[in-house]
Amino acid sequence: MAKANANLWADDIWRRIISKVERMNMLIGASFPYVSYDGKYNREEADWWTNGFWPGLLWLVYRETRDDSLMETASTIEAMMDPVLTDFYPLHHDVGFMWNLSSVARYKLMGDEVSKRRAMTAASHLAGRFNLKGQFIRAWNQPERVGWAIIDCMMNLPLLHWASEQSGDPRFRHIAVAHADTALREFIRPDGSAHHIVCFDPETGERVEALGGQGYSPDSAWARGTAWALYGMALSARYSRDYRYIDAAQRSAQFFLAHVPEDGLPPWDFLAPWEEGMAMDSSAAACAASGLLELSLLLPESESDYYRQSAENLLRRLNDRYTAWDNTAEEAILTMGTANRPKMTHVNVPMIYGDYFFAEAIGKLRGMRDTFW
Ligand code: GLY
Repeated sequence: MAKANANLWADDIWRRIISKVERMNMLIGASFPYVSYDGKYNREEADWWTNGFWPGLLWLVYRETRDDSLMETASTIEAMMDPVLTDFYPLHHDVGFMWNLSSVARYKLMGDEVSKRRAMTAASHLAGRFNLKGQFIRAWNQPERVGWAIIDCMMNLPLLHWASEQSGDPRFRHIAVAHADTALREFIRPDGSAHHIVCFDPETGERVEALGGQGYSPDSAWARGTAWALYGMALSARYSRDYRYIDAAQRSAQFFLAHVPEDGLPPWDFLAPWEEGMAMDSSAAACAASGLLELSLLLPESESDYYRQSAENLLRRLNDRYTAWDNTAEEAILTMGTANRPKMTHVNVPMIYGDYFFAEAIGKLRGMRDTFW
């Protein structure tokens, strides 16, 4: 009975997502939206890390509706990122976010060889960022950050697994597994919370220190970082079936669920002191919900129901208070995301990855199993 109700509810939300995304397609079109102010999404440059989320959202809907205009917009956006792939210098570790949700998605749905080549190129770049001594994938490009790795990168590893599957060459997978093992050892704490940044000596590979990064402090619990750990470990487990990753995903899930407030909207950092006008982050909840659903597929039924139900509860609470269905002046789906509280950039605003993960999680609740990761 509960499951039948859940499906009806998710079906209803999915119908809303379809009409919203069709409207977004008319308003946003082939461009790189990131955060929304006064109801309008801004536009980023072609190398920005979030640029896969809008085509990913279009593909999620296209695969059910087969509305060609969505397919055309997503394909155009993907081609607009080509200069970044060939320029090399602007590329960073987030090529998984960018090309999984654009090129891998298009290849899975359309079988287009151009998209496959783009995704293989991005995977080769990601593999090239691997530091052999430290067994981690380097994050950003600044010279003083040669030895930095971040928890977010767990979400880029599916691109490497996909590249190994496509090419029959296990090297990509070896790198993904090595990085995940480093994250397991150096980032994720026994209670399931995670450091955002860990710095290594790039020559010796020795761990130097952890940094707070987008979290409150090195020892706090950045909410989106917890979601990256949960979902990223679940994805690594899906590819490798390694129980250690399932265990880590479960610990991060428990931490997230134990700390998320009653209304489903996490503070930007679970351990930051509460303050007036606190920065909140709906994207962390949407990503965690999709991660919980991924995790539920890896477990026996006796355990999976709990994670599935927790994800649905989270999505229902987000939907009740932090969606903009009734606000026709708002382009976004989800309100109240925070990009970077320590830098005070984009606080309590809609963000395109919140929209993407919300739609992906609703799709999973309706039975979608094959995602673009
Ligand atoms: N990957 C950057 C962020 O989560 O804000």
